[in-house]
Formats: sequence, C-alpha cells, structure tokens
Amino acid sequence: MIPINRPWIDNEEKDEIIKVIDENALTSAARDGGKRVQEFESSLRTFLNVKHVVAVNSGTAALHAALLALDIKSDDEVLLPSFTFVATANAVVASGAKPVFVDINNKDYTIDLHDLKKKISKKSKAIIPVHLYGHPADLTELNEIANQHSLYIIEDACQSLGSTYKNKQTGTFGKMGCFSMYASKVLTAGEGGAIVTNEDETADTLKMIRNHGMVEGYDTRLLGLNYRLPELSAAIAKIQMKKLKTILDLRRRNSLLLSNLLETIIKKYNIKIPQEDQIKKFNWYLYTLAFNGSGDLTLRDHIKKKLIENGIGVAVYYDPPVHKTPFYQKFSLNGDDLQNTNWSSEHVLSFPVHPGVSEMDIQNIVNVLEKELQNII
Ligand SMILES: Cc1ncc(COP(=O)(O)O)c(C=O)c1O
Repeated sequence: MIPINRPWIDNEEKDEIIKVIDENALTSAARDGGKRVQEFESSLRTFLNVKHVVAVNSGTAALHAALLALDIKSDDEVLLPSFTFVATANAVVASGAKPVFVDINNKDYTIDLHDLKKKISKKSKAIIPVHLYGHPADLTELNEIANQHSLYIIEDACQSLGSTYKNKQTGTFGKMGCFSMYASKVLTAGEGGAIVTNEDETADTLKMIRNHGMVEGYDTRLLGLNYRLPELSAAIAKIQMKKLKTILDLRRRNSLLLSNLLETIIKKYNIKIPQEDQIKKFNWYLYTLAFNGSGDLTLRDHIKKKLIENGIGVAVYYDPPVHKTPFYQKFSLNGDDLQNTNWSSEHVLSFPVHPGVSEMDIQNIVNVLEKELQNII
C-alpha cells in the first residue's frame, strides 16, 4: 500500500535521538527550551525568514497558544473555515471564543473572502485562514479586510510549510503563524508544532504560554500550559530541517508529473486538479482532486474504494467538515451558508505525492484511476 503520507526518517534522526538519550537531556523547562529546541527554532527561522519561532508540542498547541496570546474574551468571535482539520476550531473553543464558520472558495478550498466579509461582526476579534492542502489563502486581500476591521490574523499553516504567496513563506503574513510537525506533515517530529511571529513582545508572551506563564521559575504571570516540545522530538525536527528542500522538490516533481499524466483524463471525466498561479506556490502537502457526480455513493467514494483495493492510499480531507460533526453542529445554523464546504467535502479525494512515492508509482496511480473511471462511467 502506498500510504497517503509517510515520514522520511533515517539514520541521521536515529543518531540524534541516541545523543539526546546519552546526554540524558530529554526535555528542558528553561524559558528558551533545550538545546535542540533552540537549534530547530533557529533553522526554521532562517527558512521562513521570520524574526521569532517558538516551538511547541503540537499544531493544536500552537493555535491555542496563539489565541491565548491575543487575550481572547468569552464574547469574542473568531472567523475560520469549517473545511479544515477540527484542531483549528478546537483551539478557538478552548481559548473561550466562539467559532464562526466561513465558507471556502471553490477554486483552491481556502477561506472565501465574500462570505468572510458578510460574517464579520462587532464581536469579531480574529481570522484564522487555513492554507489547506498547502494552498495559500488570499493573503493580500485578507490583510486588507483585517486592517479595515481591526482584526488579528493567525495563519493556520499546519499544512503549508514551504508554500509561498508572492514569494514569501506562508505563516509569516499574520500576527502569528502556526505550524504542525505531526507524523504525516511535510516536516515531522512525530508530534510537534511551532508559532512564528515578527513581534518581540508576542514572542515573549508565547514563550511564557508554552511554560505555564512562567519566566524565571514559579512566577506564573499569565495563563499558560505545558506546551514544551521534548528534546527527542526536537532532535527529529532539527534533522528533518536539513532535508526540507529535498522533500519539497520531490513532492513538486511527483505532483507536476501527476498533473501532466492526468491531462486527458481530467477533461474526459470533468475532474478538477490543483493549480498554482503566479502568486500562490504550493508545498504539495496533499494533491487533491475533485470528482463531479452525485447520488448516494458518489463517484468520489467509488474511486476511493477501488484505489484503496489497488494499494493506493487515497484519503478524504475532510468529510464531514467541522460544522457537521456532532459537537460543532450547535455553532452553525444549518450549514446552508457553507455551500462550497458541503460540496467539497463530498467530492474531494487526496492522492499520495510524498518523497517515498516514485515516478513509477505515479504512473501506476494514473493507470489504475483511468481503468476504474472507464469501468464506472
Ligand atoms: C489544518 C490543520 N490545523 C491544525 C492541525 C493540528 O496539528 P497537530 O495535529 O500537530 O495538533 C493540523 C494537523 O493535524 C491541520 O492539518
């Protein structure tokens, strides 16, 4: 089976982990974190060209810490897409704010600016654009809207490490940007995350938040939690940073090959493929197609089943969308205002393009897909 994503870990990561154990330095509760945390932060800082990186123990922790740093009140609303991993919404609820779900555009599945403008209210405090699948949201327009309404932007860049917008890294546009190093992500630590910011004061606050609000010992100054990244995870992340460029190159190679080979099929079967433009460049975290067709068992679901039977680990991100999950139903009226979200959740299918996928695998994926489409339609 070709999995949808697989971490690329080898001897260098293993050696670094052993060093952490030999040094008996599993973690550090110092304000600036342990040696490897600091080394990882420094290389991510350079890669992103950003002033501060604060490593934490998950992308969820990164989002929650960023929201805590905004000093959210219980009346505040935070605008975010429902077409995301539930962590984005969970962080909002955990911060005490109310999530307001905004539709996505049907071009690249990122937050829809028209619906966003309609949903901004006097209670709005922040917008969380999600760079889903590694597709950057419309950041210039988002910044303009945020400025007009005095709203903060926290970018959910958990899926978009290495994606750029106007040649600048995603995650570095808002007040803060949040990254994940979960096992499936472009760069992994098993579990891990990071918040980035260009503001000195915000970085200081975030360092306190990741360590129980403390600065010099037992002197809690604001609400924080244990969001520290362990040294074992930082050791993996630090070595992964050395591979990042190669990882991104291989993902791009696989994705462009897939797009080339799919050219005739997409026209014949009315399939939508992901497309970059002059402004938005993807990290190709997920290569996501949209299949038209409806009925009880949609074309997408047929294709998914058949490809998995053939050893191709395709996956759906996300069905159901957050507003349709039992817990979140109470936060959206009836979802009628989220039409593109609803449509996408029923029609998208993501394909593996990670560095462990060879050019022959890509050819095989296309052959199987074409055969199954011919059988079904
Ligand atoms: C869009 C998005 N937001 C947030 C998260 C949360 O990250 P983590 O799993 O590291 O907590 C993830 C990843 O899982 C994600 O894909």
